Amino acid sequence: MENLHQSAEAAAQAKLAVPYLIAGILFIMSLGGLSSQETARRGNFYGILGMIIATVATFMQPDMVVNELLIGAMVLGCVIGGVLAARVVMTGMPQLVAILHSFVGLAAVLVGISTYMSHPDGGTVHGIEVWLGVAIGSITFTGSVIAWAKLRGSMSGTPLLLPGRHLLNLIALVAVIAMAVPFIQEGHTAQMWGILQGEALLYIMTGITALLGIHLVMAIGGADMPVVVSLLNSYSGWAAAAAGFMLNNNALIITGALVGSSGAILSFIMCKAMNRSIWNVVFGGFGTGDSAPAPSSQGSQGEIIEADHDQVSDALANAKSVVIVPGYGMAVARAQHLVNDLSGMLAERGVLVRYAIHPVAGRLPGHMNVLLAEAGVSYDMVLEMEEINDDFPKTDVVLVIGANDIVNPGAQTDASSPIYGMPVLEAWKSETVVVLKRGMGAGYAGVANPLFFHENTWMLFGDARESIQSLVGKLRES
Ligand code: TAP
Repeated sequence: MENLHQSAEAAAQAKLAVPYLIAGILFIMSLGGLSSQETARRGNFYGILGMIIATVATFMQPDMVVNELLIGAMVLGCVIGGVLAARVVMTGMPQLVAILHSFVGLAAVLVGISTYMSHPDGGTVHGIEVWLGVAIGSITFTGSVIAWAKLRGSMSGTPLLLPGRHLLNLIALVAVIAMAVPFIQEGHTAQMWGILQGEALLYIMTGITALLGIHLVMAIGGADMPVVVSLLNSYSGWAAAAAGFMLNNNALIITGALVGSSGAILSFIMCKAMNRSIWNVVFGGFGTGDSAPAPSSQGSQGEIIEADHDQVSDALANAKSVVIVPGYGMAVARAQHLVNDLSGMLAERGVLVRYAIHPVAGRLPGHMNVLLAEAGVSYDMVLEMEEINDDFPKTDVVLVIGANDIVNPGAQTDASSPIYGMPVLEAWKSETVVVLKRGMGAGYAGVANPLFFHENTWMLFGDARESIQSLVGKLRES
């Protein structure tokens, strides 16, 4: 009878293999598409299609229990997700992504605890799956909540550097591994405090890993947050894969592994772009030093030169080559369409116009590329940092539009700066730099920017959208 049941289950799994395989291929094509802005829309479409196929196939499983609770939760989730996605502004995307990662982590914790409670004697492999799934899920959950709070500004971006923090992390890690042994070997048989020992160990471990997630992300300074976001993306993938093992669902394992590995690759790329070691980020605050947190001083470092719109439009009209450096402030001001108009007008006048994109400009990987693509900027005008950095000495005017940290020369010269070592766009090497921002506010890393005090830097104060609008008007008249 048991054999009959097992072979029926195997036959059902085999039937699901085909739609799951198709979904898996679509997810890989989706990742491929998302790697370039020209194919990103298509990539998104493949991802949606793959997810629909995987969901429908899962509902067709013979042992699938479909009840009002499940349908209600799905409908509610779809409505909330749809409303959030429709309402989110581009500048709010990072925190939305972070909170969505936290949901994946929480789901893995809940799946782990509930599968353990329904099969406390599921064997060694099952025990390992539950332990790993809950541990990764719990770190992902609390780490992502902290990342969400930091990204939306509800929590300071200054790193929390507790004394002996690496030792604390190590103790937590050793405790999690040490408790795994009795949990996996004999946890389900013994009693502890009147409940199953396994369950008690699972709850204690969940608490420890939850604290570990909080501590790891609290120790990360503002400038390193991009790597943390992609790292949490990777963790959420591994948490989903672990849930897939617990639920015996191949689609979840494939999707989780794809998200986990692509997130890990993205983290490596981001680390390289920021000249950080991945261990530095994984173990939170390594190399940040035990000294005082990031200086946020904006104290004067000399005189600034304030320009007006006429001066800047004249400089642009007389330039032969112009480089535009977009940053987070351009996203805030939603100035990308006007910036496209401006660059189009300059190009029509025979000016060589290019855009310089820093890998961590804005608040999301590819943030500026998305905005410029949305505004219709031609892709061949958009260059990555390493493609354009050598051209600054040959550039007449650099327009820095709402960017700050990514053009900070202190990253090369000030060893005490939290962004020291991060490659930056060397705008200061050009003839004239025009910085468009509202005031002398700091960037995300909270550090002063000596570029504003250079003798070839002009500050054009005001909202970037209004300033660009005025420049477009003046160039049209001239
Ligand atoms: P930031 O260094 O954050 O500087 C943005 C500047 O825009 C601010 O100094 C602000 O100055 C100005 N600004 C804000 N609103 C404006 C408006 N309406 N008009 C004109 N200017 C405005 O930006 P960035 O240079 O793009 O660097 C990105 C930073 O974010 C890096 O430190 C990076 O590590 C971090 N980060 C990046 C990511 C990813 S993945 N890209 C994720 C998390 C964090 P005022 O207030 O004076 O106007």
